[in-house]
Amino acid sequence: MTAAPKPPLDILLCAPRGFCAGVVRAIDAVEKALTLHGAPVYVRHEIVHNKYVVESLKRKGAVFVAELDEVPDATRPVIFSAHGVAKSVPAEAQARNFFAIDATCPLVTKVHREAEVHHKRGRHILLVGHAGHPEVIGTMGQLPPGAITLIETLEDVAALAPPEGKPLAYVTQTTLSVDDTRGIVEALQARFPQLIAPHKEDICYATTNRQEAVKRVAPLVDGLIVVGSPNSSNSQRLREVAERAGCPVARLVLRTDEIDWSLFGDIRRLGLTAGASAPEVLVEEIIDAFAERYEVTVETVSTADESVFFPLPRELRGEPASTP
Ligand code: F3S
Repeated sequence: MTAAPKPPLDILLCAPRGFCAGVVRAIDAVEKALTLHGAPVYVRHEIVHNKYVVESLKRKGAVFVAELDEVPDATRPVIFSAHGVAKSVPAEAQARNFFAIDATCPLVTKVHREAEVHHKRGRHILLVGHAGHPEVIGTMGQLPPGAITLIETLEDVAALAPPEGKPLAYVTQTTLSVDDTRGIVEALQARFPQLIAPHKEDICYATTNRQEAVKRVAPLVDGLIVVGSPNSSNSQRLREVAERAGCPVARLVLRTDEIDWSLFGDIRRLGLTAGASAPEVLVEEIIDAFAERYEVTVETVSTADESVFFPLPRELRGEPASTP
């Protein structure tokens, strides 16, 4: 007996998708530290927000900790994650003589430096971002308490009562929704016409490009999957962007076992993308899962070329020590 033919499915693969330059650098930093210094290498916070990446680094000898006081041995390297850290973290590392390696994405560091410059010039800073996200905690922690006010929503803009007599400047989290942020910034500018803006957009190239690709694909498909972790800000934003761009069903999925086949089992066109912390192998797994049920054709829809590269943190640019 021959099996029933599979129904056809066009997969529109968004490009760019997946790893950004900051994530590649952070993962490479952990791997290089393991090569140069052996295991264990301690990593404060998930190096990037992806369980698959974290688990594979754990198998190679990385040990993830929430805070520095969980590191038992000051002689081992401690790496700070791509999201960046408050100034108190490297200060504590230095006080305790840790071998600290900072894998903060250079585009997050750019926002930290901007905030510092505003502060030095006597400006009060508005940070557009999501409360509790490690990047926001890190950026707020660049300056003394009260120097930065977090703005999450339009309601926050309406309720804002900034300190009197200080010029206002804003910075943003790097992984926000481009469209939502534009709305918030316009509302801020309407209330505070003298508001000082970043010289160059703080939302990073990778966030912007991935959202653009989803906007192009979302109206063309019956459903869209974003490969990524629930705690990944840029992945969550991709799912929201897909819904807003007219995609009937958009879901965030870490691995194939999370695909809801009651939603994706009877479609003709699927959009597929991945957050900046999701490796391509997970995208391939999703395609394979659909190929078991459908006769799949894959077409890439590209809206931008990316060639951004960040060198490793300075402490890791050496060659492996020769073994005696
Ligand atoms: Fe950096 Fe943007 Fe990636 S801030 S870590 S390049 S998502």
